[in-house]
Amino acid sequence: MSEPLLNANVDLTGGVPGVDGALDPGPQAPKHHLTRDKHGNLRMQDISLARKIRNRIGILLFNNLITFVPSHSVRQNFLRLFGATIGEDTSILRGTTILDIEGLTIGNCCSIGFRCMFDARGGITIGDNVVIASDTHFIGGFHDHNDPEFPPILQPTVVDDYVWIASRATIMSGLHIGRGAVVAGCSMVRKDVGALDVVGGVPAKKLSTRDPNALQYKPKYRPLFY
Ligand SMILES: CC(C)(COP(=O)(O)OP(=O)(O)OC[C@H]1O[C@@H](n2cnc3c(N)ncnc32)[C@H](O)[C@@H]1OP(=O)(O)O)[C@@H](O)C(=O)NCCC(=O)NCCS
Repeated sequence: MSEPLLNANVDLTGGVPGVDGALDPGPQAPKHHLTRDKHGNLRMQDISLARKIRNRIGILLFNNLITFVPSHSVRQNFLRLFGATIGEDTSILRGTTILDIEGLTIGNCCSIGFRCMFDARGGITIGDNVVIASDTHFIGGFHDHNDPEFPPILQPTVVDDYVWIASRATIMSGLHIGRGAVVAGCSMVRKDVGALDVVGGVPAKKLSTRDPNALQYKPKYRPLFY
């Protein structure tokens, strides 16, 4: 098996702040790795049938129905019921799609726009005071396209406090976006982004550095019926 497959043995992120305030993948999260089923096919997640059923029901109900209900409480309590961790004063606007709800951790006072896509099968951990504008996509993994079995590889992504991701950005899997970083609109992020870095373009490159004194706001955004 080629080298990237080793990355498939990842711990899902649990949103635990590290010593420097950055979020680290947490030990309490479930493990995802490749296994083979009885037919010899590769399977992405070695989890119990009960959990698979819960995940599937949660995904189908949320993405087809609940995500369009114009109530922050209904949407977020549903996500919590199906295993997501979501802090206080956070909003996730309508039309957002989530794959593997239990892999999603979002901190306090975050604002997430309309029609975002979070593929959290490898784990997505978002800190506090993060703004993610509409139509942003988080990719959950990739396939080893040089392997004859085309194996899927899931990777966790971590977004630290005070990050702003502008509209229509795409964040590839397995990345760490550092505290206070900015991702410009329509960017494709392929590599880790350093704290306070402003990046943009396809692929995203560093454009400037953000003023650290700016990181004091509370981007709560919960208009009624949004
Ligand atoms: C990130 C953003 C705020 C940058 O603003 P800024 O710091 O004032 O940057 P500037 O407009 O001065 O541009 C600086 C450089 O970055 C480049 N740049 C800016 N935005 C870019 C983008 N989205 N993609 C690629 N390059 C970009 C500019 O071309 C410029 O390059 P140059 O110096 O070679 O000409 C802005 O470009 C952006 O992405 N806005 C999106 C807003 C949005 O999505 N709002 C939703 C509400 S949350």
